Amino acid sequence: QTPSLARTPPMGWNSWNAVGCDVDQKLITDTADAIAANGMKDVGYEYVNIDDCWSLKQRDTQGRLVADPQKFPQGMKWLADYVHDRGLKLGIYGDAGTATCAGYPGSLGHEKADARTFADWGIDYLKYDNCNNEGLPAVDRYRAMGEALAEAGRPILFSICEWGANQPWNWGTSVGGQMWRTTGDITDDWDSVKSIIRKNLTLAEHAGPGHWNDPDMLQVGNGGMSEREYRTHFGMWAMMAAPLLAGTDLAKASDTTMELLLNRELVDVNQDRLGKQADVVAAEGGRYVLAKPLEDGSVALALYNENDYAATISTSAKDAGLPPAEEYTLRDLFTHTEARTTGTLRASVPAHGVVIHRVRPSEAGDTVTPARS
Ligand code: DGJ
Repeated sequence: QTPSLARTPPMGWNSWNAVGCDVDQKLITDTADAIAANGMKDVGYEYVNIDDCWSLKQRDTQGRLVADPQKFPQGMKWLADYVHDRGLKLGIYGDAGTATCAGYPGSLGHEKADARTFADWGIDYLKYDNCNNEGLPAVDRYRAMGEALAEAGRPILFSICEWGANQPWNWGTSVGGQMWRTTGDITDDWDSVKSIIRKNLTLAEHAGPGHWNDPDMLQVGNGGMSEREYRTHFGMWAMMAAPLLAGTDLAKASDTTMELLLNRELVDVNQDRLGKQADVVAAEGGRYVLAKPLEDGSVALALYNENDYAATISTSAKDAGLPPAEEYTLRDLFTHTEARTTGTLRASVPAHGVVIHRVRPSEAGDTVTPARS
């Protein structure tokens, strides 16, 4: 059965890591314009997602959610049209409790009305949070919205923002979700990224076309990590077939940030049609070997060093799941250069670093671009 939504991990942008509650119409239209013009749309970024704090604190007299007219003067339908006109999709945020985490109306008991409202507005994606849930079972609360979305008559991607406590990877698909958070909130620092990776790596078997583990949105470009740490963050999200939701203010993004978000070879690994999350081939002392099989028979291979010091990490083509061959061609997905090996893959990986190669048996006529020193 081919899933109609999220055949590959969803890609886009979300307001939360960039501006928190300071979301408004101009930010969303500026972001849609930027994605359409700066190359992001061309590599696959598609969803422009509004997070918490978009609504009024009160429902209208008919019980419907209302977009805050100060923040969204033209309303959500207009905004959805604006985003659609640029060939992109609009996402919104709700909560499976009595109120959102920031205290705006939640959808518990209002699922049908709210799903209809979102569908009427032309919304394409719902991130559904888990605050103020009254201790009611998560699976029931999420199922209610999943069913309401299915009845609302518009394909709306359902992103289950349950922070891993109730193991949403075990029930997310059954309630209509296409992705589910596996951890608490990401923060813009290395310790957060490191601990999220550790947890998310253990859940590889639950990911596949139409149903993805979500280790939370990207912090790339927000200033709390080094360039290398951001490369590791993005590279590991690519390896883990994670949704790639940029979370930085694109109007202020540096060239380095844009280069990373636009790394098409890493995005290709993330978006590969096999839809496999990387498996852990070996893990010892904070040194990891990860392999993500790809549709064309090649393997994306990551040597990841979570330690605070450099380390040499090695593996073999065989352990990475490649077929026997006399020689393999390795393409480095950060430097975009190629090298060859007879079967041993080894690299000195700096602290908090990752080396990612796309590896395949060499073919006659392969040319090798010497690696940059
Ligand atoms: C908690 C979620 O995990 C975050 O991603 C964000 O949506 C905030 N709530 C918003 O209040």
